[in-house]
Amino acid sequence: MSRSSQRPARRRLLSGRTRGGPALGRRGVLATVPVALAALLATASPAAAGTTGAAGAGDPYFPLAGNGGYHVRHYDLTLRYDTRTRHLDGRAVLTARATQRLTRFDLDLSGLTVTGLTVDHAEAAHRRDGQELVVTPRHALRKGQEFRVTVTYHGTPKPVTDPDGSLDGWIPTDDGAFVAGEPQGAMTWFPANNHPTDKASYDFTLTVPKGRTAVANGVLLGTRTAGGTTTFRWHQAEPMAAYLATATIGAFRVRQYTTRDGIRVYDAVDPREAETAEPVLRQLPAVLAWGRGVFGPYPFRAAGSIVDRAPDVGYALETQTRPVYDSAPDLDTLVHETAHQWFGDSVSLTTWKDIWLNEGFATYAEWLYSEQHGGRSAQQAFDTLYARPAGDPLWAYPPADPGSGARIFGTPVYARGAMALHVLRRAVGDRTFVRILRTWAAEHRDGHGTTAGLIALAERLSGRDLRGLLHTWLYTPGKPVRP
Ligand code: ARG
Ligand code: ZN
Repeated sequence: MSRSSQRPARRRLLSGRTRGGPALGRRGVLATVPVALAALLATASPAAAGTTGAAGAGDPYFPLAGNGGYHVRHYDLTLRYDTRTRHLDGRAVLTARATQRLTRFDLDLSGLTVTGLTVDHAEAAHRRDGQELVVTPRHALRKGQEFRVTVTYHGTPKPVTDPDGSLDGWIPTDDGAFVAGEPQGAMTWFPANNHPTDKASYDFTLTVPKGRTAVANGVLLGTRTAGGTTTFRWHQAEPMAAYLATATIGAFRVRQYTTRDGIRVYDAVDPREAETAEPVLRQLPAVLAWGRGVFGPYPFRAAGSIVDRAPDVGYALETQTRPVYDSAPDLDTLVHETAHQWFGDSVSLTTWKDIWLNEGFATYAEWLYSEQHGGRSAQQAFDTLYARPAGDPLWAYPPADPGSGARIFGTPVYARGAMALHVLRRAVGDRTFVRILRTWAAEHRDGHGTTAGLIALAERLSGRDLRGLLHTWLYTPGKPVRP
């Protein structure tokens, strides 16, 4: 896939819709996730058997992403960025717990220079090996031990190029940086356990030149201007995957308000995008209320939008609580990124292969929103896509088995993933379908989901055997016969 192919692919699904119409156009967790996690850990077993944390979380699409042997509970990131020289000074304090005895463990960090590293305040030996930052604490960590890693580092962050050719991570702009990390880029700006299986809370203390704004996830705790710089303190309370962290910097126009539901909204908009963005951003409270009505309670206490001008990026990302847009979004895109807050952010992936659980759901949310706001129905969206011939790229691979990290943002994941949900809806009926969506969001809130878990849930709530149908739509290559 080319760098900018994913969002246009998504937009194409809805082409034909007016962009200006009305409103513009726990059991599951216990049952499924540990099994999947155990499978992941099993693939990393050679290291897990010893006292060395594995170099990856065991994800076949991104074998070095994440690490074994510990879980991070909290990241405390203190960053200072000079938008003129593009120099970053950072200190990351990770509070983690060992899941095995550890004489050594890895963090993920790409580029940058590490100048100091302590584990529980004792200097720890460390070396770099590609994206792995290999840490040998002075004393071995006991299984179950909580420990604190402090990394000081600096340098000029460089984005990574993903297998699909897109840029990811800390991406400089003319007035700051667009910061987005899916699937790998978090490690370009902080040392992380960089896989969505490991979710943590975050604090950010971001210092930028006066006149620039630094926007992260969650709630703004305060700002302070002194000596030509401004410091922004952000707190992300609910657990978050590293790829959903942001610290986007620019000369933004800022607006803050609280919705009737008590959600704290913070919008930051590049003035050059403001005229196009504003009418769309103003819909956010209505979209959040709509999402609550369909999917159940909004999973976070904060929300908002970051609208940047980042021509090198070519996509938006559902950064937790506050999506980041490379340019003014249209309403479909706002709905898409908002739906991800339930599907993708609150309910996280267990492996990247299951990316359709994020993108198929967010795309289907666009269809539902359209259908319920006087636009094209989901059935029409399905029919339009289904009319594509068997040789169309839409059918190139099945959504729940894309085959490699280079394909996780391809049309089959977004569009055929959404089609699979529509087929499910038709099979179980609207009421049960909505119950499935709501139960999925509720049972895996702040946790993880798997495709097998979703199928099991759909069967449980519908009382039907859906394996054949869903297997065809999710796992079978080629264009399925019309259900
Ligand atoms: N999850 C984002 C979206 O659908 C797409 C991110 C694409 N990332 C990338 N590196 N190509 O809204
Ligand atoms: Zn998406």
